Amino acid sequence: MKSIDEIRAEIENYKIENAEALEQFRLNFLSKKSELQSMFGEIKSIAPENRKNFGQMLNELKNKAQQRFEEQRTKMEAAACSRSNIADVTRPSANVPVGAMHPISIMMNQVRRIFEDIGFTAVTGPDIEDDWHVFTALNFAEEHPARDMQDTFFVELHPDVLLRTHTSSLQVRTMEKQQPPIRVICPGRVFRNEAITSRAHCIFHQVEGLYVAENVSFADMKQTLLYFAQRMFGPDVKIRLRPSYFPFTEPSAEMDISCYICGGEGCNLCKHTGWVEILGCGMVDPNVLENCGIDSKKYSGFAFGLGIERMTMLKYTTNDIRLYFENDVRFLQQFKAATR
Ligand code: PHE
Repeated sequence: MKSIDEIRAEIENYKIENAEALEQFRLNFLSKKSELQSMFGEIKSIAPENRKNFGQMLNELKNKAQQRFEEQRTKMEAAACSRSNIADVTRPSANVPVGAMHPISIMMNQVRRIFEDIGFTAVTGPDIEDDWHVFTALNFAEEHPARDMQDTFFVELHPDVLLRTHTSSLQVRTMEKQQPPIRVICPGRVFRNEAITSRAHCIFHQVEGLYVAENVSFADMKQTLLYFAQRMFGPDVKIRLRPSYFPFTEPSAEMDISCYICGGEGCNLCKHTGWVEILGCGMVDPNVLENCGIDSKKYSGFAFGLGIERMTMLKYTTNDIRLYFENDVRFLQQFKAATR
């Protein structure tokens, strides 16, 4: 029988370079039939005073063999694993999820592009405004209900400072700075002190427009708005103007489009009237022109204003305005196609 020292040397020096060698190592030193294991059977033939010592030495050897076996096996597995993970640079990349533009931004951009194509320029300005630009310059009477705390958000520190309730304030700002011809659209966020429901929100977006020049007529306005409606909702769309009232326009009108869902036959969207309201408009009141330093004898103009949320709800048949403010990605992801 080999000596303990011989076996120890064998365990330490055994060359394990591949899986077969590892298996052979296991058979030689760890399997039931190995020489080392069979030596455990010899314990009983050893003189009793040496048994303990002998047994300890055998156990030590067995542990050593076990430890080498485990070490080598782990090393080989790691090597095999890293070899199969070498990157294949020719593989097509995983799909990177793309975001979608917010439906309100999509609609804002569309409205903007339509007007820019016919010579309007977009102007922007402050959300926090003063009374002059939002009300007084626009011919709102002193006791007009829109000036009431119930309708307008005032900045508490100062009764003259408020959140704009419409982007008409930008029309005033433009006219104060610039003489006609003026052709601007005013996209922006507006604020009204309203209860939040499925149809109304205290924050929403508008695009308002203003055209001031010599001899601008109601017919110019009608044609411009027809062009807009047909580009936005399709070439077959008809428009109709209903008399209305705004302090800053005279005459004033509300514009409806023929229902593009039912084509005028009557459906839920148009509440069986065949028409859907989309904007307010009118000829700029001479008082407003004068308030802004523009000669109302020489110049005339038209203005219009539309709510972007309302247009978006119509175009994409969304039935709850609050969806636009909750930013639930499951809702927003649906606008991926419209983003491009
Ligand atoms: N400023 C109006 C509103 O916010 C819309 C409008 C603009 C109406 C211009 C007529 C002319 O409701």
